[in-house]
Formats: sequence, structure tokens, C-alpha cells
Amino acid sequence: MLVSVKINLIIFEKKGTKIRYDIIEKIGEGNRGEVYKAKLEDGRVAAIKWAKNYEIDKEWEILSFLDGLCAPKPIYRGKRYFIMEYVDGKPLKEYIGSSEYYEVLKKALHNAYVLDEKGVFHGQLGRYYHILNTAREVKFIDFERGVFTQNPRNFLQILGYYLFRDEKYDKKALNLIVDLYKKNRKEALNKIIRLIDES
Ligand SMILES: Nc1ncnc2c1ncn2[C@@H]1O[C@H](COP(=O)(O)OP(=O)(O)OP(=O)(O)O)[C@@H](O)[C@H]1O
Ligand SMILES: [Mg+2]
Repeated sequence: MLVSVKINLIIFEKKGTKIRYDIIEKIGEGNRGEVYKAKLEDGRVAAIKWAKNYEIDKEWEILSFLDGLCAPKPIYRGKRYFIMEYVDGKPLKEYIGSSEYYEVLKKALHNAYVLDEKGVFHGQLGRYYHILNTAREVKFIDFERGVFTQNPRNFLQILGYYLFRDEKYDKKALNLIVDLYKKNRKEALNKIIRLIDES
């Protein structure tokens, strides 16, 4: 258990500097971790993920590699937990049916393409809260199943979870985009964005 009381904690970084933070609230608990919202001493709001029973090395490595690109910016790593940027956003799934939905979906598809180009596969982008839209951008969170791979499928997963389930879209047209994506990602991304804009 990381902390259950609202007190100041002091963490000693390797260099001997300290990060002090106040836990604001617990924001999530899954089978493998607990996540807290906290305020750092410099005023930033951050998220702290405490791993109950899994190794955080890979997730930390991926967040460090992306350094805030389409993902929470990493701030500090402890032994069994890490601190990252708090992504103040609303899940893509909550936009379905609203006027903003397709604009947010386009941003998510673009980010998925960016992650694919980087060779990082998130692996769980169909889950409820993993695609968050903030006032400025879309970010993906929870990379605990993430891997570095030559064949990432972030874009194809979002296509599958969102557009293939959307009756507005012809499945044949979508399948052509899937095939194209395997040959030319950029062209397929542009094509899907045009398709969304035109429908
Ligand atoms: N960087 C972040 N910024 C804002 N909220 C976050 C952040 N990371 C996680 N959360 C929130 O914390 C909750 C749990 O996050 P996360 O999925 O990373 O934990 P978990 O232990 O892996 O949970 P699960 O087992 O369900 O996957 C989610 O509701 C998510 O919205
Ligand atoms: Mg998780």
C-alpha cells in the first residue's frame, strides 16, 4: 500500500533532491496496481502508479522512451511505483454520440499512427479509459501491457474497436484501409481522416 492517509511524503531521488507531494485522492485500482492523484511541491498535479504485483520496468521504459509523446510524461521512478503527468481528460468512449466524437477519434487515430511509427504497441486501446482527450490533445494511458515491436497495431486496434463497430462505415472500405495501412501507414491515415470528414 502506497499511502492511505493525506500526509506529505518525501521521496529522495538518486541525485539527493527531494520530491514532496500530497495525495489528493485515489483514482483507480485494478488487479495489478493502484493509481493516486497527487500534488507535487512545485504545484504540478501528477498521477502516481503503485504496482501491487507486477514489474513496472517495461511501463516506465516505454513512458521514458515516449517522454510525453501521446502518453503521460514520466516524472520520477521509485522501486515499486512511478510518478507521471496527470492526464486531465475524458475517455474517447464517452464522446460517442456527441458532436465532438469524430474530431476526438481522428486525434486518437493520428496518435495511434505516431505510436506505430515509434514501434510501441499499447495493446489495450479498446479498454474504457485508455484514450483520454484533454483540452489540448489526446493521450493514451496505462502502458502496463505495452511492448516495443516491429509490428505495432495501435491504429488497427482503434479502427477495430471504434470504426468497425460504427454502422455509418462500410466494412469493405475499412478493410481496404486496413490493407493499405500494412503497406503505407501515412496514406492510410490520410484516407481514414478524409473518410471521416466526408461522412
Ligand atoms: N497519468 C494518468 N493521468 C490521469 N489518470 C490516470 C493516469 N494513469 C491512470 N489514471 C487513472 O487511474 C485509473 C487506473 O489506471 P491504470 O489503468 O493505469 O491502473 P491499473 O492498475 O493498470 O488498472 P487496470 O488493472 O484496470 O488496468 C484509471 O481510471 C485512469 O483513468
Ligand atoms: Mg492497467
